[in-house]
Amino acid sequence: MRQSLVVANWKMHGSAASAIALLQELLPVAAAASAEVAVCPPFVHLPLALQVTADSGIGVGGQNCSEHESGAYTGEVAASMLADLGCDWVILGHSERRQYFAESSELVAAKYSSVRATGLTPIVCVGETLQQREQGKAQEVVAGQLQVLMDSPLSASDVIAYEPVWAIGTGQTASPGQAQEMHGFIRQFLREHCGETAEQIRILYGGSVKAANAAELFGQEDIDGGLVGGASLDAAEFAAVINAA
Ligand code: PGA
Repeated sequence: MRQSLVVANWKMHGSAASAIALLQELLPVAAAASAEVAVCPPFVHLPLALQVTADSGIGVGGQNCSEHESGAYTGEVAASMLADLGCDWVILGHSERRQYFAESSELVAAKYSSVRATGLTPIVCVGETLQQREQGKAQEVVAGQLQVLMDSPLSASDVIAYEPVWAIGTGQTASPGQAQEMHGFIRQFLREHCGETAEQIRILYGGSVKAANAAELFGQEDIDGGLVGGASLDAAEFAAVINAA
């Protein structure tokens, strides 16, 4: 049985004060929820997020990390630094990183390798653009993004997030059927490459998840929760998403 997981991706939003207020509202929600909950604030808010959520069961993670362990890489943050701070999670290969920061699948794989040594749990994002979907290449693209991670089998705790690029921040969610079709494809890919571990790996859906659509999405066989952007910035909305999982 895979426990549902709901992860907040705050992206580049929030002041220290708003972050604290939002987290404090989430504490009782997460405590009562059957789903596991994690939040990924901007790097600078990680210490306060760790402080507010201490002993609450809410996990905290980064939205990205370097593929390097240390060195002269101005502006970068190593996976080991996130682990050292007390983080549990890190998002890798988000489509905004791929699109605006030219992250290739090979770079995402290098980041994934650097994370494995730290004890952090990676949430690796995959997903096709609208053009790729319209060309009938959605599965091929997602398979390519997964293939580069397969040098060694994934761990049971690893998380994959399917986020169709055309559904992120657009209000245009994949239908539960479309999402399940891709999640089923990803599960089958993982079965072929990682064996029985595939049954334990959680596959999250992301892309305009909100209170109004969460229950139907999370009700699909291979959708094990969500990676939530915009709706995670509103405590009541995010609480409803958590409770739907
Ligand atoms: P969204 O973002 O929920 O605002 O569409 C999801 C994500 O990018 O992780």
